Amino acid sequence: MDILLFGGGGHCKAVIDVIEAEGSWRIAGIVEAQGSTTRDVLGYPVVGHDDQLEDLLRLCPNALVTVGQIKSPSIRQRIFTRLTATGFMLPTIVSPLARVARGVRLGAGTVVMHYAQVGPDATVGANSIINTRALVEHDAAVGSHCHVATTAVLNGQVVVGDGTLIGSGAICREGITIGANCLVAMGSRVRKPVTDGTLYLGDKSR
Ligand SMILES: CC(C)(COP(=O)(O)OP(=O)(O)OC[C@H]1O[C@@H](n2cnc3c(N)ncnc32)[C@H](O)[C@@H]1OP(=O)(O)O)[C@@H](O)C(=O)NCCC(=O)NCCS
Repeated sequence: MDILLFGGGGHCKAVIDVIEAEGSWRIAGIVEAQGSTTRDVLGYPVVGHDDQLEDLLRLCPNALVTVGQIKSPSIRQRIFTRLTATGFMLPTIVSPLARVARGVRLGAGTVVMHYAQVGPDATVGANSIINTRALVEHDAAVGSHCHVATTAVLNGQVVVGDGTLIGSGAICREGITIGANCLVAMGSRVRKPVTDGTLYLGDKSR
């Protein structure tokens, strides 16, 4: 089946590597923001811009948001909302090198990248990224539009609200809740709950 990738930056390249390894999707092309000068990504052509959604839907009904997410989830969130409203189907994609245990539920448009691990009965909402070598342990609940970055660890029963980034290498104590729209800095140790909208930098959080 064909799929369009919305966003042709660095994260798109990593997702292409997952899709190629997974093998069940044919990448029909990349869709860039209006005004972008990118012509292709890893040999896949830019076939349109994000102001042509109806035309693109006729070309291919399946899509994935491949814009990256660090300081804000808003661009990924906005594209996801527009794609679903236009009628695109957003599949869940799991790298064949990842481990997803029994009882896991993954939302539409979520990608589990190479060597990531999602433990039994964990859930991940829609349009989220479980990045390379991240660990989402048993019974954890990650919201929609989240990014669990490379090598981050969410221990058992951790809850993460919508739109939150857990930075690379951060470690979150079992059972704690991290709110919506937070940014947990790379390498942080999170031992206590984090309220919505926090920039978590350990002692210097704001
Ligand atoms: C938190 C973060 C967004 C700050 O980046 P920034 O806005 O460019 O800010 P700076 O690096 O200039 O740092 C600003 C302040 O935050 C502190 N800070 C930055 N990163 C920190 C970290 N990981 N832990 C603790 N403090 C940190 C800095 O010491 C600095 O404090 P100061 O002003 O007192 O010197 C960034 O460090 C980060 O963690 N990004 C996520 C990276 C990531 O995981 N990417 C995913 C790739 S898959």
